[in-house]
Amino acid sequence: MPTKATKRSPRVKPGQREEETLRVLISHQRIRERVRHMAQEIRRDFPNEPVHLVGVLKGSVLFLADLARELGGEVSFDFISVSSYGKGMDSTGEVKMNKDLDVSIEGRSVLVVEDILDTGLTLKYLLRLFEERKPKHLRVAVLLDKVERRIADVKADYTGFVIPNEFVVGYGLDYDERYRNLPDVCVVRLGPRGKTKIEA
Ligand code: IMP
Repeated sequence: MPTKATKRSPRVKPGQREEETLRVLISHQRIRERVRHMAQEIRRDFPNEPVHLVGVLKGSVLFLADLARELGGEVSFDFISVSSYGKGMDSTGEVKMNKDLDVSIEGRSVLVVEDILDTGLTLKYLLRLFEERKPKHLRVAVLLDKVERRIADVKADYTGFVIPNEFVVGYGLDYDERYRNLPDVCVVRLGPRGKTKIEA
């Protein structure tokens, strides 16, 4: 069983740092309902077309899996992995590709699936990259959007939840590779280690 954070017992256990506490921000139930509605919206826009989902590793994996199941119809998926550097106050916008797509997106209806839109610099890099590859359509679905953190001029076509400027984990999102398996999206009060590099 995955560790489940509850409002009643926000402390992380066992064996995890005492100073890290979790608070449920969006329950799995709410996520499930919202993902279902997002899928309906996407299918309304692409009623009879194969939709090619492009997940941004690793945070989007659980969202993509649920979205793919709710979409119905013809769906394929692929994954890309990038690392963003210089996060925080002095964000440089430097993005490094770790793993490219396996197949061409030319002529396809592509839906980029991201866990969270923060500064928007990662998405800006990805959209520029994908546009050059001449997809038929290029749309973006994000589960979470921290609107007030935006630096790049990008926005998603389909957004799950707009959230405040808090560091969140769970449902695919990590802190130092931990907490991805939490079913809920939780606010984590970070320990002393800090975050210097984020793999999108
Ligand atoms: P952006 O380029 O600043 O929009 O960053 C996007 C990436 O940063 C996401 O795909 C996440 O991997 C990571 N990120 C941003 N905010 C959070 C957060 O609150 N929790 C976990 N990861 C985050």
